[in-house]
Amino acid sequence: MLEDGKAVMLLKTDARDKIWIDAFAQAMPELEVRLWPDMGDPSEINCALLWGPPPELFDALDNLEVIFSIGAGVDSLLTCPTLPTHLPIVRMVEPELTAGMVEFCLFHVLRFHRLMPQLETNRIARHWEELTQAPASEITVGVMGLGVLGMALARQLTALRYQVIGYRRGPGEVDGLEVFHGEAQLEAFMRRSEILVALMPSTQETRGLINSRTLSWLPPTAYVINAGRGDLVNERDLVKALDEGSLAGAALDVFETEPLPRDSVLWTHAKVYMTPHVASITHPPTACRYIAEAIDDFRQGKPWPNLVEPGRGY
Ligand code: GLV
Repeated sequence: MLEDGKAVMLLKTDARDKIWIDAFAQAMPELEVRLWPDMGDPSEINCALLWGPPPELFDALDNLEVIFSIGAGVDSLLTCPTLPTHLPIVRMVEPELTAGMVEFCLFHVLRFHRLMPQLETNRIARHWEELTQAPASEITVGVMGLGVLGMALARQLTALRYQVIGYRRGPGEVDGLEVFHGEAQLEAFMRRSEILVALMPSTQETRGLINSRTLSWLPPTAYVINAGRGDLVNERDLVKALDEGSLAGAALDVFETEPLPRDSVLWTHAKVYMTPHVASITHPPTACRYIAEAIDDFRQGKPWPNLVEPGRGY
């Protein structure tokens, strides 16, 4: 039992086995780590840290008590048909992951706001022109998704003097932020968002939410940044809006299909800045400290932090 016995962790990583093992050795020297699929006696395993588990992984884990997600997004777990959803599933919330996502989104907000794509085109054409740039305080950035990542971004954007509005699934006040929620308020939110940042999880409600209809609500020459999940955006609709000129540009880190197929126009589209799902990657040293603390707290009778609600989809 995890409560009063030894912790035995099954690890199925995002291809960084050694880094994770070293990080656990530092943060939890007493932990026994077993690497999938060489897991020894499965009945000894009481916790698991997972990314993209195959369905057979859970077959013999009869004494599993808790699952930790490697990613902030838990879709790679929730789409596994054998996931034991009666167990606590703990989302990854660690400071470096949050900081990385904030940096990535700020970088692109600043790129678009400071007209870098146009300045770069002009530079290559040896064309000297002073472009008119609006101050941050006159630009509205719409943050879709107000979880840990969206809220951290909203705070930094506010500090840089942008006008920030937020969109979330359900109602709820957020100090100092104008918040829109639900389907009924989506149009009003989009109409104000000159730079739209999508940081929502992939759920039944969010899939395809950014499509021809909703893109048409954005102000003329708006920009879209997607660092959440690829299926939030209908890529065909997005390319159409870019080609027709109703959308000025997009920064995409996540895609409907990953890796992005080699024949996708998104690799080379002049108005798209694509990156291969690297906006922010969980940092094993801080992640392992977070897990160590969660297990310590649990042993002292405290609840697991940041629990996933499988029925809600995140
Ligand atoms: C990365 O995509 C994550 O979910 O952390």
